Amino acid sequence: MAMKLKTTIGMTSVIAYLLTLGTCSGRLRGLGTTPNIKHIVMGRCFNYITLVNPSMRYDCEAIWSAFEEAVVKQASCDVAMEHYRHMFLEMPQTWACDRFLFWSKTKKLIQDYTAVARHFWTLEDTLAGYMFNDIIWCRQQEDSEFNFRSCPEWSACLNHPVHSLWRQASKNFAEMACGNITVLLNGSIENAFNTNSMFGSVELDNLNPVKVNYVNIKVVTNLDGPFIESCGSGSILDLIHILQSRGFRWTCSDNDRILKILQCVQKPEHSVCRTFAESLTQRETTLR
Ligand SMILES: *[C@@H]1O[C@H](CO)[C@@H](O)[C@H](O)[C@H]1NC(C)=O
Ligand SMILES: *[C@@H]1O[C@H](CO)[C@@H](O)[C@H](O)[C@H]1NC(C)=O
Repeated sequence: MAMKLKTTIGMTSVIAYLLTLGTCSGRLRGLGTTPNIKHIVMGRCFNYITLVNPSMRYDCEAIWSAFEEAVVKQASCDVAMEHYRHMFLEMPQTWACDRFLFWSKTKKLIQDYTAVARHFWTLEDTLAGYMFNDIIWCRQQEDSEFNFRSCPEWSACLNHPVHSLWRQASKNFAEMACGNITVLLNGSIENAFNTNSMFGSVELDNLNPVKVNYVNIKVVTNLDGPFIESCGSGSILDLIHILQSRGFRWTCSDNDRILKILQCVQKPEHSVCRTFAESLTQRETTLR
């Protein structure tokens, strides 16, 4: 049952992601507030408190009201993180240590990864992340209503309503993190560790070295490359440097087996995967 639920959610967010492709990079042109936003967001909230995390007590109506108030009371480019304060007070959350997973530019892989490595917890598993994943919203220019025709791009606003909510949610998530945490970065792009990303600009700064035991970095590249960054090169070194200077302990791996297996499940015929499968078989033979 739980398995099935997770798969359905995964599928939905993949579809939603394809529909709104590019939200993360700030290309919202032509897209207004997601149609049926209230039904979707409230439905997800009730789904979360009823089926996903039944032990949690939240008031979905109150959360929606606080959200709506934050968005429609301000001009569309003036919704700051603080405006969501009331909403986040309605959804306090804590989670067990050693499960926090942060990621940047690895969205597709992370969905497979969390479906398999089920103990991991990402921002998208928090109530706020779950409710607002892939949704867009903004207010009308003159009117206290949602604008369903178009929303400004992230870069066009100092305080974009969508950006501010994710910044606050990311901040809360990072502040909660404890024990061993995992960071998954994309080694097939320049600046795998990007100081403008949510991880680089919000989450990293809100991690507490007293609460966090180890930061375990995993760098993953596409099977076909390009192979641009690794634990020993590029921006990953900057990240390691920052972690060290703040007193974090860390590890970094370029070649995580589970991640490679997940990639190979999608492309079993790829030459990398054939070699990899052989090495796994050999290892097994040796073990016997
Ligand atoms: C890395 O980023 C590129 C460009 O955004 C993307 O196409 C690719 O799927 C990402 N790779 C992984 C392993 O997530
Ligand atoms: C935390 O990470 C370190 C370094 O990878 C490892 O030695 C240790 O066993 C981990 N602890 C837990 C509780 O996972």
